[in-house]
Amino acid sequence: MKIKSIKNIKNLAGKRVLLRCDFNVPVKNGRILDDYKIIKGLETIEYLLKKKSKVIIVSHLGRPDTAKKDAKYSLLPVAKFLKEKIKKQVNFVNDISGFQAGTAVSRMKNSEIVFLENIRFEKGEKKNSAILARHLAKLADIYVNDAFAVSHRAHASVSAIKKYLPSYAGLLLEKEILHLEKALKPKQPLILIIGGVKLATKIPLITKFRKKAHRILLGGALANNFFTAHGYEIGRSLVDKESVKFAKKLIKKGWDKNIILPIDLRVSNKKSFWDAHNKKLNEIGKRDYILDIGYGTVDFYKKYIKSAATVVWNGPMGMLEEQKFKYGTLALARSLAINSEKSVFSIVGGGETIEALKMTKTINDINWVSTGGGAMLAFLSGEKMPGIKGLVSGLHSSFCHLARA
Ligand code: ADP
Ligand code: 3PG
Ligand code: MG
Repeated sequence: MKIKSIKNIKNLAGKRVLLRCDFNVPVKNGRILDDYKIIKGLETIEYLLKKKSKVIIVSHLGRPDTAKKDAKYSLLPVAKFLKEKIKKQVNFVNDISGFQAGTAVSRMKNSEIVFLENIRFEKGEKKNSAILARHLAKLADIYVNDAFAVSHRAHASVSAIKKYLPSYAGLLLEKEILHLEKALKPKQPLILIIGGVKLATKIPLITKFRKKAHRILLGGALANNFFTAHGYEIGRSLVDKESVKFAKKLIKKGWDKNIILPIDLRVSNKKSFWDAHNKKLNEIGKRDYILDIGYGTVDFYKKYIKSAATVVWNGPMGMLEEQKFKYGTLALARSLAINSEKSVFSIVGGGETIEALKMTKTINDINWVSTGGGAMLAFLSGEKMPGIKGLVSGLHSSFCHLARA
C-alpha cells in the first residue's frame, strides 16, 4: 500500500497548505466538551509549522440547517482552544472563500495559522461544488486531508478540492488507514463487536465481515431486531421494522452463522428506567425494556475477547447514559483494555463507544481509537471514501477504485 503522505513533500517552507481537519466537536456556551479529535489533529499542524509552511485550517462543525452563518456553529471556540493548546497565534477569520479569507492568507508569514469559519456555511460544500473547490484552491499551494472522520463524504473541501491542488494525506489520516487496514487483513481470530442503535448504518459491516470475522458479537438496541426476527418477545424495547426485515433476510440466507446474540439482558419495566433486572432472553415480558446485556452475556463475550487476536468494536452494549445500564459496555471496555496489553490488537470507534473508554479510563490502552464514527464503518465496509481517493493506492482488493486518482 502506498500513501501520498505529507512526509514525502520535500520543501514545505513558505508553502500555503490548505489543511482539512475534522474539528467537529461538541461545543456548549463556547466550551469544548470533548477535545479528542482536536488533540489527535495536533501532530499534523505541528509538523507543518515546524516545516515552516503557512497553515490554513478548514473544518466543519455540526450540521447547520441552512448554509448561512450561525453563531451556534461557529468554529471560533475551536480556534481559541487550538491557540491555547499549541501556544501559537491562531488567526481566526469569519470567512471561508471570500475577500477576508484571501486577505488574511496573503498576509501570512511562514509557520503561521489562519483558521477559517465553518465550511458548511458555504452552500457548495455538501454539493461537492467545483466552484467552491476552486475558490478554496486559490488560497493555497497544497491540499492536505487530515479529516478521516469526514472522508466518506463527497464534499467540496474533502473531495472536489483534490482536482485543483497537489493533494496529500495528513499524519492522522495516514495512521487511521494503516491501523484500520489491519482489520481488513486481520490476524485471526477476528472478533467484531457491534452495538448501538441504528442497525441500518452497521448492516454493510456485518455483511462484509460475515465470513472474515470468527464471530460477530451483537449488543445494544440493534440486537433487538435479531431477537424479533427469531420470534422472541422483546416487550417495549427499541426496534425498527426495516432492521427486523434485514435481520430476517440475513437469517434466511444463513449469513448469521457467525453472529452471536446476548443470552441474557438487563431490563427495566418502568419508563423512568430506575429499576434493573437480569433476565434470560426467553424470560423477557411484554412490559420490559431491554437496556443492557446481562451478566451471563458479559462473561460469555469476555471469553471471546480473551481468545481473539484482533477485536474491532463499534457501538455500546446498552444505554450507557443510565447509571443502571452501563455495566455491560464498561465491562467489555475494561476486558478489551486488559487483553490489548497482552495479546489482542484492538480497534475502537464511534462517539458513544469512545465515551465508554473515557468512563473506564482505558482510552490509552486500546491499540487504535478511530476519530471516525460513520467513516470507520464506511472504510471497513469497503464503501467509497471520496476523501481518500487518489491519496492511497493498493489498499485492499475492494478498494481498487482508490488507486485511480
Ligand atoms: P456509537 O456512537 O458508539 O457509534 P451509536 O450511536 O450507534 O454508537 O449508539 C449509541 C446509543 O445507543 C447510546 O445513546 C445508547 O443509549 C443507545 N443504546 C444502546 N443500547 C440500547 C438499548 N438497549 N436501548 C436503547 N438505546 C440503546
Ligand atoms: C463525525 O462527527 O462523524 C464527522 O465529523 C462527520 O460529520 P457528519 O456526519 O455531519 O458529516
Ligand atoms: Mg453515536
